[in-house]
Amino acid sequence: MIDDPNSNSGPLHDLEQWEDDLRRRYPENIQQLTDGSEKQVEQFRDYAAAVKPEVREFYRLNHRFQTLEFVRQKRQDYLSLNKRKMGLWDGLEFLNTLIDDSDPDTSLPQIEHLLQTAEAIRRDGHPRWFVLTGLIHDFGKVLCLFGEPQWAVVGDTFPVGCRYSDKVVFSEFFADNPDSQVPEYQTELGIYEAGCGLDHVLMSWGHDEYMYHVVKDFLPLEALYMIRYHSFYAAHREFAYQPLWNEQDRHYLRYVRQFNPYDLYTKAAVRPNIHELRSYYEDLWTEFFPDQLAF
Ligand SMILES: [Fe+2]
Ligand SMILES: [Fe+2]
Repeated sequence: MIDDPNSNSGPLHDLEQWEDDLRRRYPENIQQLTDGSEKQVEQFRDYAAAVKPEVREFYRLNHRFQTLEFVRQKRQDYLSLNKRKMGLWDGLEFLNTLIDDSDPDTSLPQIEHLLQTAEAIRRDGHPRWFVLTGLIHDFGKVLCLFGEPQWAVVGDTFPVGCRYSDKVVFSEFFADNPDSQVPEYQTELGIYEAGCGLDHVLMSWGHDEYMYHVVKDFLPLEALYMIRYHSFYAAHREFAYQPLWNEQDRHYLRYVRQFNPYDLYTKAAVRPNIHELRSYYEDLWTEFFPDQLAF
């Protein structure tokens, strides 16, 4: 097992492998079961027993290296948004260079996931900002193309600087995180204050937090919650970390729950025809965003 935090890529075959694994952890038919019931516990045991070694290794690296210090460093590296300017199509094309060569069936996995998510939201008659959120929610995965390893791009996110919840998948791997040896970071609230709100909490670094900062001036708060916390399964599925939540979080995390099925369960739908959809999404982009967004 390698422990090189800087080796680009990582143990996963591609970024979708994490999402495929999420669908196994949270199968569509039990998505309402979030109460820790027997059935859910059983389901999770099955999940852990059958998880692929590369997914396990991916989480081991993620939990080992996502420290408070690492998160602060990445925020410094990226949040000035001076890496690249991208519009809709160059953004999608850039993302598509993340193509997984080993899977001949999906030649455009990123574009297809984004269009399928957006199209499902549109079919259900949701507001236009919601459709646009579906389209761009994973644009932050460009972090991979900026040289970040998989464990700093995807994976469940969690607060750093306070005690790890056992509701975070494979929480046992946090034992190897240096922060687990810092007593100040291992109380329930850690470096935070009770009810301070997630906006004041530093989350593990990844595509969610990054994309939130790229679009935060352009979309309504509902959309910003969907984008920023869509991988924070411990909160939106398991209701962990509530001592940190404030009123706003209690209200707006419901939108993350509303978004989540579109993210997870629209994969098998009909393949979207990019050419037919082109002008609709160009208009939608222009309605909310400048021609180019700063990444
Ligand atoms: Fe995502
Ligand atoms: Fe996604």
